[in-house]
Amino acid sequence: MSDAIVRPMREGDLAAFAEITATSYHEVETRTAPRSWPDPVRRPAARNGHWIRRTGQALVTDPGGCWVAEVDGEVVGGAVSRVRELMWILASFAVRPDLQGRGIGTQLMAAAMHHGRGCLRGMFAASADPGAVRRYRLAGFDLHPQMLLTGVVDRGELPVVDRVREGTAGDIDLLNSVDRRTRGAAHLSDHELLLAQFRLVVTDHSTGSGYAYVDEDGAPTLLAATNRRTAVKLLWEAIASSAPGTEISVHHITTANAWALDVGLAARMAIHTHGYLCVRQMKPPAPYLHHGSLL
Ligand SMILES: CC(C)(COP(=O)(O)OP(=O)(O)OC[C@H]1O[C@@H](n2cnc3c(N)ncnc32)[C@H](O)[C@@H]1OP(=O)(O)O)[C@@H](O)C(=O)NCCC(=O)NCCS
Repeated sequence: MSDAIVRPMREGDLAAFAEITATSYHEVETRTAPRSWPDPVRRPAARNGHWIRRTGQALVTDPGGCWVAEVDGEVVGGAVSRVRELMWILASFAVRPDLQGRGIGTQLMAAAMHHGRGCLRGMFAASADPGAVRRYRLAGFDLHPQMLLTGVVDRGELPVVDRVREGTAGDIDLLNSVDRRTRGAAHLSDHELLLAQFRLVVTDHSTGSGYAYVDEDGAPTLLAATNRRTAVKLLWEAIASSAPGTEISVHHITTANAWALDVGLAARMAIHTHGYLCVRQMKPPAPYLHHGSLL
């Protein structure tokens, strides 16, 4: 049994919890990644800044969704969750590796889920950690295996992509409306966080609308569209921006989004499986590639 105290997360806890997530995610990735993969990389310190900014914003928008566990006055774990338009989203959930398996995670998960008690739908991305997956299934979530694509994009296969433009904050209403049609809930203020970190590409025409946030490597970190043809265009636009000869990964592809696999195969990338999309009272969104924590 755990002797931990679970209490609301405060700003002063962010740095300690960032370290715990970086360590425990890296530990679980090392333990569960297929042997054919390159060695998992611990979240670089440069990305801790984005993580802390994002989680700090959750303390403002969702104070009731963010919890830490303390043992002897020291933060040893936490859970961060958000509610967006009647959807509960679990963003981070981790306990220090040496204290796992003592019931601390169960207490944290219960506190975070309480924040979503008014929400029918729920959604989050899970690692392949057997303990975490057990918790999620026992909490009533459907588990949808996720695939990912890795490789160097074959530039000879890049199609001409037309009618996709750079997006700005002026597009947020459009993005929210595409969110509602695809995942059933808008990202609202999360778009401001995403815009501050990533390149946004948008398409909005009578034939379909959609958007993608693209990281500095050329991988989409979130992609949503009203139809598959538009989603395919956005994915090509994203991966076309990868540096020639550089390996990239496209994460979070559920079977409902096989269109993304077809793009990856055409670009001569390889398919792997990794972790799960966990959902409650909803189908995996499509055409949609979810963000790992803002979903
Ligand atoms: C997931 C995590 C937060 C859970 O915290 P925890 O304090 O270890 O959780 P608990 O001790 O409350 O419960 C773990 C459950 O998993 C079970 N478990 C632990 N290891 C297991 C294994 N190898 N196989 C199957 N079940 C396992 C435990 O028996 C327990 O279930 P039970 O209460 O029904 O017996 C923690 O393990 C962790 O930080 N993991 C690494 C990071 C991670 O993967 N986070 C989730 C990201 S989505």
